Amino acid sequence: MFDPHLPHSAVIDQRVQESPGIFSLRLQYVDTHVQDIFEFQPGQFNMLSLFGVGEVPISIVSDPDDSHFFDHTIRVAGRVTEAMSRLQPGDRVGIRGPFGRGWPMAQAEGQDVVVVTGGLGCAPLVSVIRYLLRRRDRFGDIHIMQGVKHEDDLIWRRQYETWSREHGINVQLAADVPGKAWPWQQGLVTELINTLDLNLETTISMLCGPELMMLAAIAQLRDMGLADQQIWLSMERNMQCGFGQCGCCQVGPKFVCKDGPVFCYSEVADFLGAKGF
Ligand SMILES: Cc1cc2nc3c(=O)[nH]c(=O)nc-3n(C[C@H](O)[C@H](O)[C@H](O)COP(=O)(O)OP(=O)(O)OC[C@H]3O[C@@H](n4cnc5c(N)ncnc54)[C@H](O)[C@@H]3O)c2cc1C
Ligand code: FES
Repeated sequence: MFDPHLPHSAVIDQRVQESPGIFSLRLQYVDTHVQDIFEFQPGQFNMLSLFGVGEVPISIVSDPDDSHFFDHTIRVAGRVTEAMSRLQPGDRVGIRGPFGRGWPMAQAEGQDVVVVTGGLGCAPLVSVIRYLLRRRDRFGDIHIMQGVKHEDDLIWRRQYETWSREHGINVQLAADVPGKAWPWQQGLVTELINTLDLNLETTISMLCGPELMMLAAIAQLRDMGLADQQIWLSMERNMQCGFGQCGCCQVGPKFVCKDGPVFCYSEVADFLGAKGF
């Protein structure tokens, strides 16, 4: 059986520079048996470590069906991610995981799915989008809304364009500061939500991004008639252990690392955006 608490060595198969400060790594466990038995759910994360530097939690962005590799997309934020940005194919990282509770994919079956993301908040939901597209007949319409501050911050542009051409997929992008040729919306991603004509009985929404953005999106979705149980979000906190031992990531009685990072809105409503949490 696969033990997520044990670190394993993984080798970088591919490296893609997505934007000046964001890169993706395609990884494979060095031990092929470990790669064969490694499984994860969309929304779960791994702890990635560089020996002598440190360890960071990073979402898995590939589809769980891609069993020969797994992808991480990483923004350079500080010490560890900066060191990781210098890695090249053939280099190795340590991996513990997968950790956490992913998105409610079973609950989403048969439903329309609304995905609202901001900045690199798209990362924990790209795995969901890939999952939905591979199993298209099991889900209703898919609405994908992604917002960025500046047009240049948009990664996976070609991917969004490809998705937008698929039947039953509604892709809308927004940039606060668009360039002259930006074909999408100018403004906040939350402004796009008003354009939706939701089927209230059969819709589930999944959000990830800055907490203020998620709060605004939640307020709109609730105003439009979605119940709290139809609203799910992924939260971020500083992490150390990744499995409920150190207490670093607590939000009230919940541990983001093991009870989340994906929560139903009703579970975290009292703490979201509240000072001190
Ligand atoms: C469940 C989870 C999934 C994540 N998925 C991704 C991902 O897919 N891609 C990605 O690029 N990043 C992701 N992150 C964020 C990533 O873990 C941090 O950017 C990283 O730990 C920063 O480490 P560092 O040593 O480079 O920077 P540090 O020097 O440790 O930190 C730089 C700055 O970022 C702050 N910071 C560090 N971690 C967090 C955090 N979790 N939330 C808010 N502020 C933080 C620090 O306080 C400091 O101000 C995720 C975080 C969590 C908790
Ligand atoms: S990261 Fe240690 S308890 Fe969550």
